[in-house]
Amino acid sequence: MTPPLLIGNWKSNTSYTEAVSLVDASLEAVIAADGKVWVGVTPPFPWLMALRERLGQGHLWIGAQNCSATEMGAYTGEVTASMLKDCVTFVIVGHSERRAYYGETDDVVRAKVTRVLEQDLHAVLCVGEVLEQRQAGDAEHVVKTQLLAALEGYPEDKLYRLVVAYEPVWAIGTGVAATAEDAEDMCAFIRGVLNDRFGDSSDIIIQYGGSANEKNAAELLAKPNVGGLLIGGASLKPDAFAAMIQAAVSLSLI
Ligand code: PGA
Repeated sequence: MTPPLLIGNWKSNTSYTEAVSLVDASLEAVIAADGKVWVGVTPPFPWLMALRERLGQGHLWIGAQNCSATEMGAYTGEVTASMLKDCVTFVIVGHSERRAYYGETDDVVRAKVTRVLEQDLHAVLCVGEVLEQRQAGDAEHVVKTQLLAALEGYPEDKLYRLVVAYEPVWAIGTGVAATAEDAEDMCAFIRGVLNDRFGDSSDIIIQYGGSANEKNAAELLAKPNVGGLLIGGASLKPDAFAAMIQAAVSLSLI
């Protein structure tokens, strides 16, 4: 079994100085975890190369929060996966903030997954329903549709390069996380969809994200289908992030 995977999604936060102290603090916690937990952080684009050089390729993985759906070319302002290849290990794709604020459709998300794989990077694919969809009983349908659309044509020999993050939109940045039971139910559902799609999907890690913090991490991670956490706000607080890494380590010792 793979260790739990904790990823910090820093979003559009941090000065360079803050970014350096955050990675240094996270690295300390990761080294103490001694391989029992896998940990990544996703600083803003401008800091990536310098942080990668600071950290080297070991212990703490550096990822990007987004990439272009296109290859290199006349696309002003876009950052391609090929440019990211030298500074990151993984790329978050299809985060709900990208879908909601920048109009990313399932087709765009699928193109981004393809670009990420072309560069031999790992894709952290985010899926999740909004509150109205959950209240209407449509959550599973929405998540399944997003998943299958993003994974159309996904090569079966690259499953180890895929992480799926279940992030109910109503839980992101709200302080109201899904209950551990709800997170488990949806992660189990996602596992079923992936098994139907690929046969054996055990190489794919499934994370929960949405107001995960140092208080609820252990309960969420204790669920059998929750293989990790995608962490926004709490990943910007060194003590909280370190406590979550420590919680994951403690569970791995049980
Ligand atoms: P949050 O964000 O932990 O601040 O809710 C999670 C995310 O957006 O990935």
